[in-house]
Amino acid sequence: HQPLKVALLGCGNVGSQVARILLQDADSLAARTGARLELIGIAVRRLEAPREVPLPAELFTTDAESLVKEADLVIELLGGIEPARSLIQTAIAHGACVVSANKALLAAEGPALYEQADAAGVQLSYEAAVAGAIPILRPIRDSLSGDKITRVLGIVNGTTNYILDQMDSTGADFATALAEAQRLGYAEADPTADVEGHDAAAKAAILASLSFHTRFALPDVHCEGISSISAADIEAAKEAGLVIKLLAIAEKSQSADGLAGVSVRVHPTLLPREHPLAAVRGAFNAVFIEAEYAGELMFYGQGAGGNPTASAVLGDLVSAARRIVLGGPGRTETTTGQVAALGIDQVQTSY
Ligand code: HSE
Repeated sequence: HQPLKVALLGCGNVGSQVARILLQDADSLAARTGARLELIGIAVRRLEAPREVPLPAELFTTDAESLVKEADLVIELLGGIEPARSLIQTAIAHGACVVSANKALLAAEGPALYEQADAAGVQLSYEAAVAGAIPILRPIRDSLSGDKITRVLGIVNGTTNYILDQMDSTGADFATALAEAQRLGYAEADPTADVEGHDAAAKAAILASLSFHTRFALPDVHCEGISSISAADIEAAKEAGLVIKLLAIAEKSQSADGLAGVSVRVHPTLLPREHPLAAVRGAFNAVFIEAEYAGELMFYGQGAGGNPTASAVLGDLVSAARRIVLGGPGRTETTTGQVAALGIDQVQTSY
């Protein structure tokens, strides 16, 4: 097969590792894909910004729009809503498959983008948007597609898990544990999106959408963070044989009037210390799934960082490229039609 042109949008922590691996592992990726994945350019905001990894200067451009129009495969790692949304729309309109790690965009505007990709017959994939390296979206979408998921419980934010774990293991208060997380690079200078649960809520919306074959956006997710958890709360939980974890929860629910629904929420949750999620320490992530036939499943790994997240991005890229090699881009897998197939009469969110 002729080489496939890959455009990379964004060259931060994750993007620079994706570019490095695409260049360094070009032969083995080509062997696995059936076509060479040719990195044709990297769109960045500022050409002179410092890079974590040395990359050929001629690859860089500030003209993302032109780059996208030339590509067969577009990797969007810009984050935020714009210009990421417009560039993804341009990519889809030009028949390119898109790989994105942009949980904020997918949680806010995913449905419209999936519809656009569906209509164009191209694949939009986003494994890296939830729980970094952990293969979780494809197992939910594909491996469990013959089952019925009843509940998803996820530790999907490493920063808050690190903070709560520090508080639990050292007795530190929230501010001290947060400062330590910032010192180690787990938390940003402005930690709001992590500690108030917004990052986890975006991931919860994506997990819920795939697990329950319907579409949830950020406003559907009840969200409560960890900034009001005190050292005394942690201590009291410990004495009762419990641990406090910030969980993203999506589960089938029944409202008072008997309607079947799905509840999607993020909040600090008390777990028995024997629960598999209680053993998730530090900045690690894990997703615990309950399905009618499979029973309990647990997925564990690194939820952030350049190489772990690049692993998920490249998996999606190879998968999309293989589909092109095998005769045409694939379709995105979640459609509203599947709601009826699942037999949910009326889907609603409840808190
Ligand atoms: N800040 C996020 C976390 C990064 O702590 O998990 C990955 O989305």
